[in-house]
Amino acid sequence: MAKVKLKKLTKKFKEVLAVGNISLDIEDGEFLTLVGPSGCGKSTTLRLIAGLENPTQGDIYIDGQKVNDLPPQKRNVSMVFQSYALFPHMSVESNLAFGLKIKKKSAREKQEKIRWAIDLLGLSGFEKRLPKELSGGERQRVALGRALVLEPKVLLLDEPLSNLDAKLRLRMRTELKRLHKKIKTTIIYVTHDQAEAMTLSDRLAVMRDGKILQVGTPEEIYQKPKDVFCAGFIGSPPMNFISGEKVPQVKDKNIMVGIRPEHLSVSLTKIAQAIPGKTSVTETLGSDNYLYVDISDQLISVRLKPDERIPEDKSVWLFPHQGKLHLFDKTTGKRI
Ligand SMILES: Nc1ncnc2c1ncn2[C@@H]1O[C@H](COP(=O)(O)OP(=O)(O)OP(=O)(O)O)[C@@H](O)[C@H]1O
Ligand SMILES: [Mg+2]
Repeated sequence: MAKVKLKKLTKKFKEVLAVGNISLDIEDGEFLTLVGPSGCGKSTTLRLIAGLENPTQGDIYIDGQKVNDLPPQKRNVSMVFQSYALFPHMSVESNLAFGLKIKKKSAREKQEKIRWAIDLLGLSGFEKRLPKELSGGERQRVALGRALVLEPKVLLLDEPLSNLDAKLRLRMRTELKRLHKKIKTTIIYVTHDQAEAMTLSDRLAVMRDGKILQVGTPEEIYQKPKDVFCAGFIGSPPMNFISGEKVPQVKDKNIMVGIRPEHLSVSLTKIAQAIPGKTSVTETLGSDNYLYVDISDQLISVRLKPDERIPEDKSVWLFPHQGKLHLFDKTTGKRI
């Protein structure tokens, strides 16, 4: 376990600014996720921590020690890449042992470590199998195991679930969370999937264009996004944004109003302080149903109550729940 500190970290690839002056403190044993759209600098940040890239500016500390000049193998971190590759001709056991070979440990210690990983990751019975004889999730676990047997102080995971199908992704998500609870290693996780970030992490760092926009627990960011981008990126279906002059409670064209789908109710009769619209389609996701309402050329999503059914092409009035409006400055995008 270890603390990780990023201090004014910048990485430029010629004229491309991949990471722009980010500072972040990751606590001992924390599960922190860097989340943001493609190209925002997540992998580069992870590679800088791993020592696979050198910062253009700024410093990286692991447990108080500046590691800028330490080679990757001396940093006590393990990284699992997005396109993890197992050695195809080696059994599960040999794949797990591979990283340990370079570590000066006795044969017995190595054997114990491998046994520990096999039990921890539920790979018992698979020891002699080749990667091609495993399912995607099992292969994924071997890749994780390979990183874990090295007993890193910090585990760096770059979209480790992206090769899996939706169902397996969900299962591995739970497994990862359980694993973290057990081993308590500091984990820095990278994903562009906000749902994955929300469910796995102690805290998130929302990134955009090489910058960190907000750091906080999933609840904090969901309930109090600092700007329009964080508000729209975290949550599904995304927060609705309505120009202030259309919202009776606000009536200000300089303000952008954000309302989450679960904070709107629909009325089939006209009511004051409501936004008029026309119902479009309803999306059924099983447990949740979302109604889309057209308010002058803009579709607004509304989460319906479990048994609520509203017909299509009907005039309706939308009213936001008390105290649930998010107000943003239209010019700067910042929360007001
Ligand atoms: N070796 C490199 N040379 C030049 N530009 C690079 C290099 N690596 C990354 N970049 C650029 O830096 C920016 C950040 O890339 P990075 O891989 O960190 O993004 P990411 O957030 O991990 O994206 P994704 O979700 O698509 O993996 C991008 O604009 C990318 O094109
Ligand atoms: Mg990446």
